[in-house]
Amino acid sequence: MIKPDALEANNTGKIIDMIIEAGFSIKAMKLTHLNKTEAETFYAVHSERPFFGELVDYMTSGPIVAAILEKDNAVADFRTLIGATDPAEAAEGTIRKKYAESKAKNAVHGSDSDENAAIECAYHFSGREIVG
Ligand code: CMP
Repeated sequence: MIKPDALEANNTGKIIDMIIEAGFSIKAMKLTHLNKTEAETFYAVHSERPFFGELVDYMTSGPIVAAILEKDNAVADFRTLIGATDPAEAAEGTIRKKYAESKAKNAVHGSDSDENAAIECAYHFSGREIVG
């Protein structure tokens, strides 16, 4: 996902360029605006964390772009491309180093495992929109 802070700052195109340049192919993509229930469901794994309310408020504060990306080793390579959760700790040249505002407003989300990628892809897309 490209998150509300990145859309608000008009960084969507630059982030998509970085994703393509890094060798990912886009299999599906959509602009959408999560409601509270959708954000709570997507981030249910974090529901006991102290920042959960802040996370849900932020993720519903504006539109997001959801995408399915394909590449060999996609989960690990995407996490390398986006950098650490906290932009202050993210490596130079990563998406979060360039575009994230803070640990909370951190520009992008990437799945943390193949299993969660499948769950998150199914969450955002029914299947009919997926190319190839
Ligand atoms: P993401 O990779 O989407 O996974 C969970 C999200 O929770 C994370 O990016 C941040 O947006 C948010 N998050 C993680 N840690 C914190 C924190 N300490 N305070 C606020 N938000 C956080």
